[in-house]
Amino acid sequence: MIYSRITGTGSYLPARVMTNQEFAARLDTSDAWIRSRTGIVQRHIAESSQGSSDLALHASVKALEAAGTKPADVDLIIVATSTPDYVFPSTACLLQAKLGVKGCAAFDVQAVCSGFVYGLATADSFIKAGGHKKALVVGAEVFSRILDWNDRGTCVLFGDGAGAVVLSADSKPGVHASILRADGSYADILSVPGNVCGGAIVGTPFLRMDGQAVFKFAVRVLEESARETLAAAKMALEDLDWLIPHQANVRILEATARKLGLPREKLVVTVDHHGNTSAASVPLALDEFVRSGKIRAGHRVLLQGVGGGFTWGSSLVTL
Ligand code: UT7
Repeated sequence: MIYSRITGTGSYLPARVMTNQEFAARLDTSDAWIRSRTGIVQRHIAESSQGSSDLALHASVKALEAAGTKPADVDLIIVATSTPDYVFPSTACLLQAKLGVKGCAAFDVQAVCSGFVYGLATADSFIKAGGHKKALVVGAEVFSRILDWNDRGTCVLFGDGAGAVVLSADSKPGVHASILRADGSYADILSVPGNVCGGAIVGTPFLRMDGQAVFKFAVRVLEESARETLAAAKMALEDLDWLIPHQANVRILEATARKLGLPREKLVVTVDHHGNTSAASVPLALDEFVRSGKIRAGHRVLLQGVGGGFTWGSSLVTL
C-alpha cells in the first residue's frame, strides 16, 4: 500500500508588520476591540511588487530544504489561493517557473480558506493512486489586495503570507484520512462578488462578509468535521497531539476546542500574530510549530479548513 507523508514544511511572511494601532489611527476602531473580538494583534502585508507566487516561492524553497528534496524531484505542484497573480496562468505554473523546473503537473485549487486542506487531500489522492511520488502543496495569499480598507468589519481581520509542505510517497501513513465538504448555498455570507469583463470590474472586487453567520457556520462545521475525520481514521480525540484549525478568529478556535473537549494546550493559535491568511493559515501555523520544536516527528495533527464557498474539511496526519 502506498501512503503519503509530510516530509518538510516551510513558510514565509512579508517583512511589513501592520499593528492594530495603525487601524485605530484612521478608522472608528481600537486595539482593544480587535484584540477582544478576534485575538488579532498584528498581521503582515506584502509589498505591492510581491504576488502570491513570490510568497509561495519563499515558503516552497524552505519546505524543499527541510525535506531534503530538489525542485526537480517534485512531480506535482498544487497551490491553494484565492488571490492568484493572474486570471491565468495558474499561480502553480508561475511558481514552477520560479523554482526553475518544468514538466511536472501544476495547478491551483480554489477553496478559499479551506484551500490548503483541499490541496493536501488532492495531493494525497494523487500519491495513493500511484502516479506521483513527491508533491509540493502550498497555500499562498495576498488578501490585502481584496480588502476594502475603509470597512472596519473586514479589513482588520486579514493578512498576507504563504505556507508549504512537501508530501512524499511512503510505506507508512502520513495522511490517515481527509474529508472535504462544501455547501454552495452559503456563497453569499463570504465572497468577493466581482469579475473582470471587457476590461472593467463587474460587481465588487472587495471582500464582503456576514461576520456573525460565518462565525456560527465555522464553529459548527469545524466540530463536525473533526469528529467525522477522527472516525474515518478510526482514532479518538485523545489520540490527537495537536489541532490546527484555519486561523480565523481566536474565539472560533477556542469555541471549537471547547465543543470537542480538546485541552487548550493542544490547540495551535497563530492568528494573533498572522491575522487570517486564508489558504496560507494552516501551513503557516504548521511550519511555525514544527520549526519551534513543538510539533515533532510522530505527532498526530488534525489540520482543518473552513471558508468561502462555503467549504470546509479536515486532514488527520502523523508528522
Ligand atoms: O476565514 C473566514 C473569514 N471570516 C471569519 O472568520 C470571520 C468570522 N466572524 C468574526 O470573526 C466576527 O463575527 C467579527 C470579528 C467579524 C465581528 O465580531 P462580532 O463579535 O460578531 O461583532 P458584530 O459583527 O456583532 O459587531 C458588533 C459591533 C457592531 O456595532 P453595533 O452594530 O453593535 O453598533 C459593529 O459595527 O462591532 C462593530 N464593529 C467594530 N467596532 C470596532 C465591527 N467591526 C468593528 C471594528 N472595530 N473593527
